[in-house]
Amino acid sequence: MNRHGAGMVSLASPRCATDVIASDVADAVSDVVQTDLLSCGRCPRLRHYLKQLRHQYPDYWNRPVPASGNTDAPLQIIGLAPGLHGANRTGRPFKGDASGDLLWRVLSQLGIEDQVQITNVVKCLPRNNLPLASEVRRCQRFLVPELSAMPMTSVILALGGVAHKAIVQALDARQVDYPFGHSRCHQIGERWVVDSYHCSRYNVQTGRLTETMFRDVVELAYQFATDQPK
Ligand code: URA
Repeated sequence: MNRHGAGMVSLASPRCATDVIASDVADAVSDVVQTDLLSCGRCPRLRHYLKQLRHQYPDYWNRPVPASGNTDAPLQIIGLAPGLHGANRTGRPFKGDASGDLLWRVLSQLGIEDQVQITNVVKCLPRNNLPLASEVRRCQRFLVPELSAMPMTSVILALGGVAHKAIVQALDARQVDYPFGHSRCHQIGERWVVDSYHCSRYNVQTGRLTETMFRDVVELAYQFATDQPK
């Protein structure tokens, strides 16, 4: 047990079915927060890198990448940070690179592409896909309202250990009470968080995460979300 009176559980296969309609933007995250995000330059290292990339790749988005999908969705999928030729190019989380291809393929196989909201714990592209702890912390000003904008019954799928830790921090819980583990489910306050290894090309190539493992954990999180009492 932890200080919230809850802990990790394993889940049986629950029922399915929602009728959530997708929209393009996270409409319940206030306009003020969204505008602040798009003009954010609070992290000097990330700001300089994006500035440099605007010269190198003038056709790319090269700005903070906001969440996509509907804030009424039963499932919120949270990755690490935009990839150089993926989200940083397209301006959409997990759009345009290998990890995005895997994520969208699995969502499509499960028929739930329009029933998710997708975002990252760090909104700007970090060098080598490695945000600093200070950057993760600073970006909480955007993650916290994104979490709050979702229904309490929605389930969060954390992609990778860094995302998991940032979510635990955003939910104001102690890291020690919620260790990361693939397919682990944590109740944190009133929210449920399911962990997955990140669907990066590296994790797939090294065999840490197979497509079947990933589909199973996405399905687990989705089924659990749609089984929550409304
Ligand atoms: N693309 C994203 O938007 N996030 C990731 O974590 C990886 C790729």
